[in-house]
Amino acid sequence: TLTQAEKAAVVTIWAKVATQADAIGAESLERLFCSYPATKTYFPHFDLSQGSAQLRGHGSKVMNAIGEAVKHIDNIRGALAKLSELHAYILRVDPVNFKLLSHCILCSVAAHYPTDFTPEVHAAWDKFLSSVSSVLTEKYR
Ligand code: HEM
Repeated sequence: TLTQAEKAAVVTIWAKVATQADAIGAESLERLFCSYPATKTYFPHFDLSQGSAQLRGHGSKVMNAIGEAVKHIDNIRGALAKLSELHAYILRVDPVNFKLLSHCILCSVAAHYPTDFTPEVHAAWDKFLSSVSSVLTEKYR
């Protein structure tokens, strides 16, 4: 679980990220598919070319969910319960992929806000994304 200081750091960086959430979401997916092409197999029905409408739309949905998790930082499990069932029971995304996407989101945030991305913010945001991933993968077994 996150300390009070870590929660505060997450809320602060999110206030900035939220203003460019769609761009950061799309960039995170572009980084994911570019660096880890095997992840594209979950999206055979998508046009994954850079800047495609589907990529942007999906990036926006992912960042919306992250925003919900920030808003309910003391109850991430409750906030993402439906999404957890979707990824586990319907989409069956292998949990390793959550680490890859989290890494790509981390890189996008760092690239957009280099001066805000102190080691403390980095650590807090990483821990937060790891909590989100745990919630989204905990229904698997
Ligand atoms: C769908 C969030 C990780 C694959 C979704 C949706 C959201 C979401 C909000 C849309 C749900 C809906 O339409 O009701 C997240 C978050 C993640 C995450 C917050 C982690 C931080 C992943 C990973 C993969 C993945 C790692 C696979 C590499 C998919 C697929 C869909 C989906 C295939 C359905 C897309 C479609 O057909 O529209 N996710 N996701 N997700 N997610 Fe995730």
